[in-house]
Amino acid sequence: MTTSTVNHLLKQMTIKEKIAQLLQLAGPFFKGSDQQGQITGPMAEMPIEEEHILNSSSVLGVSGAKEVISIQQKHLEENRLGIPLLFMADIVHGYKTIFPVPLAIGCSWDLELAKKSTEIAAKEAAVSGVHVTFAPMVDLVRDPRWGRVMESTGEDPHLNSLFAKAFVEGFQKENLTSDTESVAACVKHFAAYGAAQAGRDYNTVDLSERQLRESYLPAYKAALDAGCEMVMTAFNTVDGIPATGNKELMRDLLREEWGFDGVLISDWGAVKELIAHGVAEDEKEAAKKAILAGLDIEMMTACYAQYLEELVEQGEIDIKLIDEAVLRILTLKEKLDLFNNPCRGASIEAEKAIVGHADHRKASRDLAAKSTVLLKNNHQTLPLSRNQKIALIGPFGDSNDLLGPWAGVGVKDEAVTMIKALKDHLPENNLIFSEGSSIEKITQSQLDEALQAASQADVVVLALGESSSMSGEANSRTNIQLPQAQLELIKTVAKEGKPVVTVLFNGRPLDLHGVVEHSDALLEAWFPGTEGGNALVDLLYGKVSPSAKLSMSFPYNVGQVPVYYNHFNTGRPKGAPDAQEHYVSDYMDSPNDPLFPFGFGLSYTSFAYDQFELSTDELTADSVIEASIRVKNTGSCSGEEIVQLYIRDFSGEIVRPVKELKDFCRISLEPGESEIIRFSIKEEQLRYHHKDLSFTSDAGKFEVFAGPNSQDTHSLFFTLKMKGGHTS
Ligand code: GLC
Repeated sequence: MTTSTVNHLLKQMTIKEKIAQLLQLAGPFFKGSDQQGQITGPMAEMPIEEEHILNSSSVLGVSGAKEVISIQQKHLEENRLGIPLLFMADIVHGYKTIFPVPLAIGCSWDLELAKKSTEIAAKEAAVSGVHVTFAPMVDLVRDPRWGRVMESTGEDPHLNSLFAKAFVEGFQKENLTSDTESVAACVKHFAAYGAAQAGRDYNTVDLSERQLRESYLPAYKAALDAGCEMVMTAFNTVDGIPATGNKELMRDLLREEWGFDGVLISDWGAVKELIAHGVAEDEKEAAKKAILAGLDIEMMTACYAQYLEELVEQGEIDIKLIDEAVLRILTLKEKLDLFNNPCRGASIEAEKAIVGHADHRKASRDLAAKSTVLLKNNHQTLPLSRNQKIALIGPFGDSNDLLGPWAGVGVKDEAVTMIKALKDHLPENNLIFSEGSSIEKITQSQLDEALQAASQADVVVLALGESSSMSGEANSRTNIQLPQAQLELIKTVAKEGKPVVTVLFNGRPLDLHGVVEHSDALLEAWFPGTEGGNALVDLLYGKVSPSAKLSMSFPYNVGQVPVYYNHFNTGRPKGAPDAQEHYVSDYMDSPNDPLFPFGFGLSYTSFAYDQFELSTDELTADSVIEASIRVKNTGSCSGEEIVQLYIRDFSGEIVRPVKELKDFCRISLEPGESEIIRFSIKEEQLRYHHKDLSFTSDAGKFEVFAGPNSQDTHSLFFTLKMKGGHTS
């Protein structure tokens, strides 16, 4: 079917059929679904009629070749014009083979492996009947109280943009029409959902347009520039208007300014939530505001289904708005070749052969090892030796809660636990296990048993963390420490005086007081996915040397939040040469700096940086400065290092961050080996949104930094000699 035939199809549709195309419903509404008829809770209150279901555009959250084929076939038997359904689901970090949560992947700084993870996720999902995934989630995050930070790749706009591109390219591959092992991507949540005030989910977002454009919008734009087919609106307000009813966001920015002509879908129930937000008196007004603002598909509420026809009849909205939306949906179906091949890649046979394939698990294991951050390693405690007797202690020692939130159809029982991986790796009598505590409770007998285990071991490996139900949507926390029970466990076990290696499983940066001081070595494993245990053993025993770098700051304590590296300097920066003794921007009871900064991560070897040089200290709009720095492996084992380049603008029309990541490079060095790393600096990298929101650079003084993280850097200065750049 071509665009003209899609237009022809639109002309044949009744207004009721058109309006129903703007509705997305969950599986229980559909004939042929395994959940058919199980319409409970809020779903049961939806005034959905048979004709709405029969003509709806898409199915939410159903996958599995058999069920998808069954629903699609039954649907096409009854749909008057033979318009197939789209099947959309949350395949965020894996379908059945689960990869580390995206915040972990963000710490890998490995764009190739990130792309490979979504290629694999797409392949497993497509043969299972999924057409569209509600991913990537690219919301920039600065507040670890928010449960959904695990879904983002972190606090930096540049790094998030690179990951957004990689994820979309992996999901959609080269050709959505011909490659039935691809899925269409839906970037979310537009926009700035990660800026929810106080880290409380669904809370108000109130940003200047400049901050929105500087920090929060780049990653969505990167996803769309990579060809992302859909956008999902966020629950939150942006500048006082809920995203789902925000014309400036959808029609003016997305459609007009960015030229996005794909499908816009609301988040779950977000159209009807315009009432709770206080910008619609009832569902009729909610429907009107959402369609006028540019929303195409309403997910799981029925404001459109109930009132759009009436609004057209009353002349309150033009039928053209509905036609445009329907055309975008039909065009996506046509792009996915659903009119010719309504079941697309769904195949029971292919599903058996592809889903959960060993090669996919291997890729997940590799990425998990590259996403785990070594935060501390005193006395070279790590890597361990197989000859050492290990006491594995803690609630995550024998836990399969390693997949994290939004784990597709991943099965926890298929996850490789720490104890399983250690048993496979160690001589039998070299491993003792004691749970020590549950996630939130501890008993004296558990403590006693843990101490007993520690006393018999050469090394203690503590496996601690948050349960996945403490992370993810609607799971915000004001206390971001480990639960008290686990803090008691680590403090008690540490008194045994044995070396302590702590492995953390969690979905957000934590306040690590009570953990760091009792650990000789500390690994941040996040939720590492299906192969988590094996990946950790690869790291613990040195088969892989850690190379990950934090993509989100770990605060010293929650009182600092939001704390992030690319902050402004203020007029009274602490530690400035001319700073006053007392009247500076700081706290009475905490340092300003985070405990572990953006870009931080250790290796089993060590690296020395020197010979930082610039090819010139003057830049013009059409010249390039080459920055070079020598990195040497000064340790006793090979290792990978992610060399980072940051820039600071000293002469902005508006205040500029003290550092901004502009480039990075991964290198691998043998002991004693050194390499000169070279970066190019161009005027376009110095552009930002000015007072009038023009995107240009300012002539003047800049500082450039290079190093292993955002704090420990070498720096030099250069000058941009002319006003360059272009207003975007
Ligand atoms: C949820 C999430 C969104 C997800 C959608 C469909 O509420 O906010 O990320 O894609 O509903 O499951």
